[in-house]
Amino acid sequence: MKPIVILISGSGSNMEAIVATARRERWEATLGAQVAAVISNRPGAAGLARAAELGVPAEALDHKAFASREAFDAELIARIDAYRPALVVLAGFMRILTPAFVAHYEGRLVNIHPSLLPAFPGLDTHRRAIEAGCRVAGATVHRVTAELDHGPILEQAAVPVLANDTPEALAARVLAQEHVIYPRAVANLLQNM
Ligand code: GAR
Repeated sequence: MKPIVILISGSGSNMEAIVATARRERWEATLGAQVAAVISNRPGAAGLARAAELGVPAEALDHKAFASREAFDAELIARIDAYRPALVVLAGFMRILTPAFVAHYEGRLVNIHPSLLPAFPGLDTHRRAIEAGCRVAGATVHRVTAELDHGPILEQAAVPVLANDTPEALAARVLAQEHVIYPRAVANLLQNM
């Protein structure tokens, strides 16, 4: 079995899309894979409750309880590795990762970012795309490397930026596409493992 560990910080809609797709497509039988756990750095993240409702083991590891980024990442590695993951999936995990964390999961760490990378790494991507006058925006699934929001691209989806678009409306349009491309990218990776 190839265990998948999903890291979240917020609402967990991408996590839910991956869990739902894994069940619909019977990944256990077809890919020998299953979502083993969901871990959040925010104890109050709505996605944790969502995961529990879905019957997926859900844990919180509060980064505020740690004196340094290194100490938090070391404990996070220990929690994740308890599940012996084939793949670690960042799904709205809003933490900058230490080089040690990235190196530990080299080749099995992926992220989704709400822009058409390499445009708009970092935060506030939808407002920045609108202000730049972009006619298209979108989302990118990529392998995680030491540089924030870089790394080889695995999947992208584009959506139009509409006249009078708001960051919120654009974000919702992009998120709907994230829910399509992220489960697909994860399945493709698992297939080739
Ligand atoms: C998603 O739009 C994801 O692309 C973004 O956070 C949102 C999480 O939503 N990730 C980042 O901005 C990472 N830099 P979700 O919790 O509902 O999946």
